[in-house]
Amino acid sequence: MALRAVILAAGQGTRMKSTLPKVLHDVAGRPMISWVVDAVAAVSPDQIMVVIGHGAEAVEESLGGGIETCIQEEQLGTGHATLTALQAMGDASGDAVLVLPGDTPLLRSETLELLARLQRRTSAAVSMLTADVANPAGYGRILRDGWDRVVGVVEHKDAAPGQLNINEVNGGVYVFAGDLLPAALQQLKTDNVQGEYYLTDVISILAEAGHSLGALKATEDEILGVNNHDQLAEAARLMRRRITTRWMREGVWVQDADNLFISAEVVLEPGVRLYSGVHLEGATRVRAGASVGPDAFVVDSEVGEGAHVWYSVVRGAAIGPECEVGPYASLRPGTVLGRGAKAGTFVETKNTVVGEKAKVPHLSYMGDAEIGAGANIGAGTITCNYDGFQKHKTVIGERAFVGSDTMLVAPVTIGEDAVTGAGSVISEDVSPGALAIERSPQQEIPGYAARRRKKAEG
Ligand code: UD1
Ligand code: CA
Repeated sequence: MALRAVILAAGQGTRMKSTLPKVLHDVAGRPMISWVVDAVAAVSPDQIMVVIGHGAEAVEESLGGGIETCIQEEQLGTGHATLTALQAMGDASGDAVLVLPGDTPLLRSETLELLARLQRRTSAAVSMLTADVANPAGYGRILRDGWDRVVGVVEHKDAAPGQLNINEVNGGVYVFAGDLLPAALQQLKTDNVQGEYYLTDVISILAEAGHSLGALKATEDEILGVNNHDQLAEAARLMRRRITTRWMREGVWVQDADNLFISAEVVLEPGVRLYSGVHLEGATRVRAGASVGPDAFVVDSEVGEGAHVWYSVVRGAAIGPECEVGPYASLRPGTVLGRGAKAGTFVETKNTVVGEKAKVPHLSYMGDAEIGAGANIGAGTITCNYDGFQKHKTVIGERAFVGSDTMLVAPVTIGEDAVTGAGSVISEDVSPGALAIERSPQQEIPGYAARRRKKAEG
């Protein structure tokens, strides 16, 4: 028996009050729907059909390869969306049809697998996911008969006061027998508060026809449906916690699991130490023994073995092993720090390579620069890399000693072992081993202070 999967993602998500289609809202670094697609793909269905409509192009673009889509022109309800998918898929009789919403990012593939297995084993008309929840508001309520059999689902908006107290809710995830589903969908009516074709009405249609129905209980988290920003934040929190827990199991030390943001694509190695207030995002990799935080934002970057990054912002940078970054450094794209290099307090770098053990310890801007191994950049040094029209390069040789408050007017090259005097504006190349100093000689005027006071006091 083939398994076909239908993901419903055509709705606008009115309650999000957003121009972005609901299923594209971010959950821990990925659009909500890609979590769902991945969970579905992990059970290896023979076909995955995503029903799109609102923001169809953008939603389609977010889907990976091997996923089919069909358009539901008008969003007439989840039942209508399912019918649209069935029509696009062709004959599904004899198959099992998994139908689920695109707004339940926490659903696990293990649970989908169990549900599909239950359906295969029992040959019921449908096997569905339910959950007992503390706050059932907004969900469809599960109706059971005197023998505890599921006989229907009533939507929150259509529920009688007594039914609102039911705290077993519909997860919106079903595996249907493919030969019963189309006919049941054809029977749907819109005689409900929302005037929609509810997929949930298929449950009572099948029950009333005398078919057996199965239900599997999932946890409250897993069936969390995201309809508004409140639920989006909750889903993101749970997903982050799930990701953090996974890394802790892989040997990552975490100071405060509730104050840590590790997005989906980030890779961590065992022995990494993460202090509180750390955001790791995008294609970031933190290598063994590195420690990040407190308070750091690292995106699309690598943090090398044993490196230490704290109170800093790191974007598109490669930090080598044993480096020291921060506090209060801003490493911008194209920054490469060699082994044991340092970018210290109030240091900004962009498109700059800092050689092994070279140090930029305080109050500097290094842009479009190449700093040789072992060089030392004095406090307050700035590469004047932009002349208002173009960017120019600064090259600093190995072991060079750049005096504090040097202005390096690019293009300029400081030779190996060269020295610049503090406060110099260096606009010409400096030969290896030379001292370049550019400042007026100091003068001394004896007794000046006393004369000045006398003048002021009249
Ligand atoms: C739905 C269920 C509810 C269940 C809940 C679980 C129905 C009628 N209700 O309610 O019983 O407890 O999910 O999360 O099914 N969609 C379409 N086309 C449409 C309408 C919806 O593709 O015409 C898609 C939406 O984009 C969404 C999914 O179907 O991804 C569910 O729709 P939504 O409006 O979120 O349903 P709920 O009110 O949450
Ligand atoms: Ca929903």
